[in-house]
Amino acid sequence: MSFAIAIDGPAAAGKGTISKAVAAHFGFAHLDTGLLYRAVGAKVLAGAEPIAAAKALMPEDLEDSSLRTAEVAQAASRVAVIGEVRAALVDFQRAFAQRAGGAVLDGRDIGTVICPDAAAKLFVTASAEVRAERRFLELEARGSDVTREQVLADVKERDARDMERAEAPLKAAEDAKVIDTSDMSIGDAVETAIAAIKVQREG
Ligand code: DC
Repeated sequence: MSFAIAIDGPAAAGKGTISKAVAAHFGFAHLDTGLLYRAVGAKVLAGAEPIAAAKALMPEDLEDSSLRTAEVAQAASRVAVIGEVRAALVDFQRAFAQRAGGAVLDGRDIGTVICPDAAAKLFVTASAEVRAERRFLELEARGSDVTREQVLADVKERDARDMERAEAPLKAAEDAKVIDTSDMSIGDAVETAIAAIKVQREG
């Protein structure tokens, strides 16, 4: 039986950590759909045409360790405004959502567009300042030479582009449970998420 959990929200709100923990808790497979857009963005930075790159995307393209840079994140956000790029990535995501044994997908439009019938939906958010600080500490730990100001500007730019685009903009589905992690520890956020999913599953 398939059981899909949709987890959406802006960059660095804690979606990735929560999604991995939720998937481990329920024994479900996990897909970070941002990686699809990052993989297309990386190919475009290397000279490819966005729509052709999205159509030719292979699962192994998601394993590239260079997909986590700020430059690739911005490129991902730019290709994500193109309707044909989004359309080329739909089937892969829906097939993943329907896999037997359950699936957790995290992204921007999972509860609204990819899996509107998901059994449980969360929208994980936090203030731009808190998200930028988390991302800054992550990048710093990886040896990246960035300032807090740059990271905050980057987060705000990506939020604006992701929320204002015409195709599948970032927004909470009407039936999503909104979790603001600004003042939560990772442990609290994960616990809140699992409890919310159990309530939705039973309801
Ligand atoms: O989640 P992330 O930071 O890895 O996502 C990178 C970009 O990809 C994000 O800024 C917008 C885009 N994206 C999207 O449009 N839809 C998704 N479901 C996931 C990501």
